[in-house]
Amino acid sequence: MTILDGKKTSEQIKLEIAGEVRQLISEGKKVPHLAAVLVGVDGASQTYVNSKVKDCEQVGFGSTLVRLAADTSEQLLLEAVREINDDEDIDGIIVQLPLPDHISVQKVTEMIRPEKDVDGFHPVNVGRMVKGLPAYIAATPFGIVQLLDRYQIETSGKHCVIIGRSDIVGTPMSILMARKANPGNCTVTLCHSRTQDIKAHTLQADIVIAALGKPGFLTGDMIKQGTVVVDVGISRVPDATKKRGYGLKGDVDFESVSPKCSFITPVPGGVGPMTRAALLWNTLQAAKNSFYKPVSITD
Ligand code: GUN
Repeated sequence: MTILDGKKTSEQIKLEIAGEVRQLISEGKKVPHLAAVLVGVDGASQTYVNSKVKDCEQVGFGSTLVRLAADTSEQLLLEAVREINDDEDIDGIIVQLPLPDHISVQKVTEMIRPEKDVDGFHPVNVGRMVKGLPAYIAATPFGIVQLLDRYQIETSGKHCVIIGRSDIVGTPMSILMARKANPGNCTVTLCHSRTQDIKAHTLQADIVIAALGKPGFLTGDMIKQGTVVVDVGISRVPDATKKRGYGLKGDVDFESVSPKCSFITPVPGGVGPMTRAALLWNTLQAAKNSFYKPVSITD
């Protein structure tokens, strides 16, 4: 069994990105700049956003953190996004989810200009991804694809079972694993809350991607020998032995699953750091206008 070390792999990717930033600077080009918007004081969201800002510093990006109160109106948030859209210095925008209930995630997502949507949540980017066009791909699925790629895991012709159909992870993951690409070319089964017998599917899987947000859901009896297991879950579970009062647990019961795996991601240190590196990579592409070339009126 080999650990898919997301921490180590993400550090390598960050080194590569930092090198590209130095190159951009030496060519007199602009430094990539990410703006993150955080509404409210949700503990996990604050941790994530702070990490994203720290990552930017590490690779030499500029960053702006916009903090808004939990009772910020939808209108005010949309205005804030519009301002960042129009700020030429800012290449990428993320609005940290979840948002308070009185704010429409859809409206906010659609307000972000697709050219700056480094989360890859805008329908234009989702549509472009589905069609195989250059697009920002949501950071978690993109980070997972990168991890499989860097460990040279064969995916072509394999059966990939994904558990969870969220907009952010499960659904885009199913498209990436099925598409005609490498990694990709899988036969994909997408399991969800209405799936009748998840175990019957996971027992048939060569690759299992668990992204349902239920700590310890996937157990050793649910997979066959040699399966590749990717654990996307990262739930806070009460733990009196920890100073902060909680521990982090994935969707995979590592103890029973890992002995049967060929490869497995740990939690923490697997998918999480890869997600962060993927966001940086998207922001670098935004600064380089890789996907949306400016159109000159003389063209
Ligand atoms: N909340 C959980 N994951 C994400 C993510 O990838 N992007 C944003 N904006 N919010 C999130």
